[in-house]
Order: sequence, then C-alpha cells, then structure tokens
Amino acid sequence: MRPLIAPSILNADFARLADEMAAVTDAADGADWLHVDVMDAHFVPNLTLGLPVVESLLKATSVPLDCHLMIEEPDRWAPGYAEAGAHNVTVHAEAAADPVALAKDLRAAGARAGLSIKPDTPLEPWVEVLRHYDTLLVMSVEPGFGGQSFMPEVLDKVRTARRLVDTGHLTLLVEIDGGINADTVEQAAEAGVDCFVAGSAVYGADDPGRAVAALRDRVRA
Ligand code: DX5
Ligand code: ZN
Repeated sequence: MRPLIAPSILNADFARLADEMAAVTDAADGADWLHVDVMDAHFVPNLTLGLPVVESLLKATSVPLDCHLMIEEPDRWAPGYAEAGAHNVTVHAEAAADPVALAKDLRAAGARAGLSIKPDTPLEPWVEVLRHYDTLLVMSVEPGFGGQSFMPEVLDKVRTARRLVDTGHLTLLVEIDGGINADTVEQAAEAGVDCFVAGSAVYGADDPGRAVAALRDRVRA
C-alpha cells in the first residue's frame, strides 16, 4: 500500500493550529492524516489538549485526524473522540482496562481503533487483542515529548507485526511514532511500517509542506 505520512501537530504553533494544519495538507503530495497528541499529565508527564480542541480541529480541516491518546482511563474518554469524528483513535495498551471492549466502542462510534505500545512493552501479549484493532502504533520514543531520538530497537516489534499482517494473522496498519526524520524513516519503512508520524521533522522545518514531501520521497517504493 501507499505509505501514509501523518505530521504531528505537537510541534506546531498552538495559537495558529488551523494555518499550521493547512501548511501540510494543502501542499502538493501533502499529509494523509494529521496526528494529534492528547496528553493528560498522568499517563505521561506532559499536558497538551483535549476533546474541545479536537472538535475545533475537526471543523478546520477535511484531512482525517489521527488522535493518539496518551491518557489514563481511555475506556472512559476515548469513545468521545470517535463520536466527535476522529478518523483513527489510538489508546495505550498499558492504560486500557478492557481493550477489546474499547475497540468495539471506537468502531461502533465510527472510528478506526488503534492500540499503541510504549518502547518497553512487548508485542506478543497483545496479538490476540490486536485482532480487534485497525492500527498498531509502535512508539519509537518514550511518549510525552516531541524531538526525542529514534529507538531502533523497537523495529523488531514492527517486523513481527508486519509478518503477522502479511501472513493474514492480523489485519491492521502498522504506524510508528517518535524520532522519525529523513535519516530514520527508511529503516522504519524497511521494517514494514505503513504509517509514519513525524513532529519536529515537519514543524521544525522552514517549509513543513516540503518536509512532508521529502519524507514521502524517502519511503516511496
Ligand atoms: C510523543 C508523541 C509524538 C511526537 C513525535 O509522545 O506521541 O507524536 O509528536 O514527535 P517527534 O517526531 O518530534 O519525535
Ligand atoms: Zn503521537
């Protein structure tokens, strides 16, 4: 499939979010999804934005929103993002109380269901649960902050997930998040990633739209 590029607005100017989103979606060969990092200062040591902001972002763009919920109690809060119209809602395996029921709730509300695992969380215990999900988000940094260095050791989990998808055991997109830039994106692609999140590599660039196109050029088959 065509690789998906999902710029993370975490590194954008929060006072100008609509313009910042347009900078990567209106460009030629622009963003496929917009990645929105929701942090609650409990699951991760940082605080970003929540459902009211996501509702406004949904009105400001027609590009699918990929909401990455780094929050406690996702069983309680995540369905609201799906009901609001987020395209993909990802919760953390480490935080969900009943991830199978939660995936069903997210899908029933019209969203794709995503499950994320932190760098130290193994994949194997989650494989059966992942049968109920549409996206696996492999974290390649500790969640909480943009601009950290890529952890290549997580690529073993990507390779395993790729094999499970290619052999028909799972049907999902493999997404990677953290430290993706022009230097690291190719190794992630070779390991089998379908969807690439990039924050600082896009919004730290002089021309975010061109930064998206540059990442895409590196992973184009
Ligand atoms: C980190 C977030 C990422 C972050 C990525 O916890 O989940 O989406 O924005 O930023 P970079 O690409 O700078 O690592
Ligand atoms: Zn993220």
